[in-house]
Amino acid sequence: MSIIFAVKKSAFYKTILILTSLTLFFSQLKCTAPVKPVEAKNGMVVSASTIASEVGVKILKEGGNAVDAAVATGFALAVTLPYAGNIGGGGFMVIHLSDGTNTTIDYREKAPLSAFREMYLDEEGNVIPRLSLEGALSVGVPGSVAGMIYALKKYGTMPLEKVIQPAIDLAEKGWVLDESTANGFKKFVDVFKKYPSTYKVFTKNGIPYEEGDVFKQPDLAHTLELIRDKGADGFYKGKVADLIVKQMKEMNGLITYEDLENYNPVERNPVTGNYRGYEIVSMPPPSSGGIALIELLNILENFNLNEEGWGSSLYIHRLVEAMKYVYADRTVYLGDADFYPVPVKELISKEYAKEIFKKIGDAAVPSTQISAGNFNKHYESPQTTHYSVYDANGNAVSVTTTLNSEFGSKVVVEGAGFLLNNEMNDFVEKPGVPNQFGLMGGEANSIEPEKRMLSSMTPTIVLKEDKPYIIVGSPGGSRIITTVLQVILNCIEFNMNIQKAINSPRIHHQWMPDTIFCETGALDDDTKDKLTEMGYSIVEGEITIGMAEGIMIDNKSKIIYGASDTRGTGAAAGY
Ligand code: GLY
Repeated sequence: MSIIFAVKKSAFYKTILILTSLTLFFSQLKCTAPVKPVEAKNGMVVSASTIASEVGVKILKEGGNAVDAAVATGFALAVTLPYAGNIGGGGFMVIHLSDGTNTTIDYREKAPLSAFREMYLDEEGNVIPRLSLEGALSVGVPGSVAGMIYALKKYGTMPLEKVIQPAIDLAEKGWVLDESTANGFKKFVDVFKKYPSTYKVFTKNGIPYEEGDVFKQPDLAHTLELIRDKGADGFYKGKVADLIVKQMKEMNGLITYEDLENYNPVERNPVTGNYRGYEIVSMPPPSSGGIALIELLNILENFNLNEEGWGSSLYIHRLVEAMKYVYADRTVYLGDADFYPVPVKELISKEYAKEIFKKIGDAAVPSTQISAGNFNKHYESPQTTHYSVYDANGNAVSVTTTLNSEFGSKVVVEGAGFLLNNEMNDFVEKPGVPNQFGLMGGEANSIEPEKRMLSSMTPTIVLKEDKPYIIVGSPGGSRIITTVLQVILNCIEFNMNIQKAINSPRIHHQWMPDTIFCETGALDDDTKDKLTEMGYSIVEGEITIGMAEGIMIDNKSKIIYGASDTRGTGAAAGY
């Protein structure tokens, strides 16, 4: 726990800058703000790409179930959302089937076999800047292809060739670039220049793509065809594996044939909780998301939040104090539970939440005076994108997938046409040194061969009377958890429709730095004054917190409501 005090002031300010700059990417993605969700009777897909949502809903219309549609959407996103959609990254899928089954599929990236704890440190033990963030050494063994194919085989109804074909067509024939994607390419053009294979894909022989250009990805189309024809072996073996290993060798990366062959998705029991009678079904470790969300809801259930008023200083104070305790626990206890004994039961117990609740009084407690819980006495651990799917039979799928930063490691595999992740930055490089999201950690999330790095991704399904009520998730690194929390609270405590719940401005606190980050409009002047008087430091302005994609189902009227976050340019597509 001493790591909390090891954070240098410079690191603290760097974290604020990084958190702010990461959000600028999304602040350019603004579009008009619908206040009403899209309504449908039969099925719904909501993703950060209009084209990918349409691909998913077409699969539903053709008789596919929510898993078929989710996998089709996932592959389409690898083509139409280059900064985050992927086959070179990883993700989590939370599934609720109409027979009552709740399950999750973990296809998080793994550390290569030759990875080691100090791999990002110099001889003096200092973190080498950007080594875990860019280039071949930042890449974890990708899991997306194996995970999506596992989900489709076990829970889907359609063959792979059917659900992957739209993605192949989009990559081969191209699609018309929208303004935000073209701007995203331009923003990173100098970074891409360092990597010829990437520069080749995301520029026209060095000339930036413009909005309205048709963007074709022939190498990616061929890779997708190999996956279509050979399944996971089309990616983890043969030509694509050769190209990945070649790229690694040329750039001093660590991933070998053995790493690729060893990759396995894992089906895990979801982490579940209960909030005012609603069942919360979310992602267990190696995500911190489900545990943190349930711990937060357990603490907050002890307050009468709806009586305090949305956005009031008291409401924000309670949210923020709860967030501090939960992120302190995340820092110390959360990691890959296959490698570290994460105290899941203790962290999500109502009894533990009650203890934290009792510590939350009227005053703002500085983060330095808050530490992770002591479980000895309890004992008997940007950029990303989310999509939500619901089908006519009541099956629900909630998927968050990631390359980590925008465009991941920035390395496209030459000849294979896809970007590799930079997920290794989600490990702890050195205790007390924050990662790109300002998150810290210790032993629980240290680097070990084949270990999965801790994630904040929180794909979640909320059940009401055992049926899906809300399907939601978000990108945003450390801010994913607090985004999902606030969408759920907006729906349950403040009766907002799903679009309003998602559009409403959000706040975020992650224990360290001891700062409330808030979007414009989240706090009015009076609230800001009161919170400042209470001792809070507030950073407000050109930042966005998360980009949620959600579905709400009214089981009485049988209407399905879809809402894509107006912070982005995605869409809800229903029928
Ligand atoms: N790479 C962001 C996360 O998994 O939390």
